[in-house]
Amino acid sequence: MRENLTALLDKIAPQVIAWRRHLHANPELSFHEQRTADYIAQQLAAIKGLSISRPTPNSVVADLTGAMPGPCYALRADIDALPIEELNDEPFRSTNPGVMHACGHDAHSAMLLGAAWVLSHVQPQLKGSVRFIFQHAEEVPPGGALDLIEKGVLNDVAMIFGLHVFPNIPTHSIGFAEGVFSASSDNFDIVLEGKGGHGSMPHLSCDPVVLGAEVVLKLQQIVSRRLDPLDKAVLTVASFRAEGGYNVIPDSVELAGTLRTHSAKVREQVPVLIKEMLDGLTMAQGARYTLKWTKGYAIGFNHPDACRIAERTVTVAMGENTLQKFPNPMFGSEDFSSYQEKVPGCFLFIGSGNPEKGTTWSVHNPRFKLDEEALQVGVKTHISLIEQLLL
Ligand code: NI
Repeated sequence: MRENLTALLDKIAPQVIAWRRHLHANPELSFHEQRTADYIAQQLAAIKGLSISRPTPNSVVADLTGAMPGPCYALRADIDALPIEELNDEPFRSTNPGVMHACGHDAHSAMLLGAAWVLSHVQPQLKGSVRFIFQHAEEVPPGGALDLIEKGVLNDVAMIFGLHVFPNIPTHSIGFAEGVFSASSDNFDIVLEGKGGHGSMPHLSCDPVVLGAEVVLKLQQIVSRRLDPLDKAVLTVASFRAEGGYNVIPDSVELAGTLRTHSAKVREQVPVLIKEMLDGLTMAQGARYTLKWTKGYAIGFNHPDACRIAERTVTVAMGENTLQKFPNPMFGSEDFSSYQEKVPGCFLFIGSGNPEKGTTWSVHNPRFKLDEEALQVGVKTHISLIEQLLL
């Protein structure tokens, strides 16, 4: 990395930690990040040369236009927190009861602020522009990315990059998967309507509980018997509600669950197969059903062009041993995928695991803790990407 960038990176490091700690102490839930966005906008306003906009009250976008013409690249951070009571006892622990930055989005925001500060200093040399996207509501579908895309944040954007801290790999490692990296996540609700009655006279009722049990088992057979074994999918029923009593067969039961897959074909296929199965089973029992299918996040896809840039950036700026190519995609989902449906992009994982510092707790755990050394790695990754693309 250029000397002036390294010097700027060192200079902003303490401020990046301070930003992250402020955000960590003041977490807000998805779609309610008004004060978080205000704080970020206020910090950006102190950086020279940015043009700042608020596509929604709880998000912020800053544009840095270089002195020379060229393409626009977007860097994205998510800013929302989770409904979790923090169990860590650091001085900057959450002051908002029941809400915690347990997925590192405080770190993502601070890293992107740091990158904006550093890159603003090289504006006269930039051959193109950088869009810094501070996105609300990554944790709750339909997600904030769709909102922002609708407001035009991808207009003129050639490529987008996003970072996520990742305690599963050591600090100073950076990982990503080529191609598909995250699963789609769709939810479903099934209501089975039978006919309630006395528990001692099942023949006079149409028992939706037994039918529901059958549906749960048959759903497992969709994955194991109806899909191509090479197509991976997870179909989970996580809620089964039947409000009968010891001797009361209820009128209806409600099932709810999720489908995760890395295959666009499977994503279309499974709801059709579920419908077929429900048609058959309910007809055999004289019951009825409704199926509600709610599409969540799309499959995350790291574009080959963006992967090559990410790989070169990491190996050149950080050293070859830094890069960990993930052999498999994860079954988690990310609404960064919404941007990737529109423009090529790559999502990178910034290692933050350090057993000596106790930072190997998984994200979404109430003891999740950040190794703050990862902040510097994240800022460096952002600015190295732009260095390679626009300087
Ligand atoms: Ni996250």
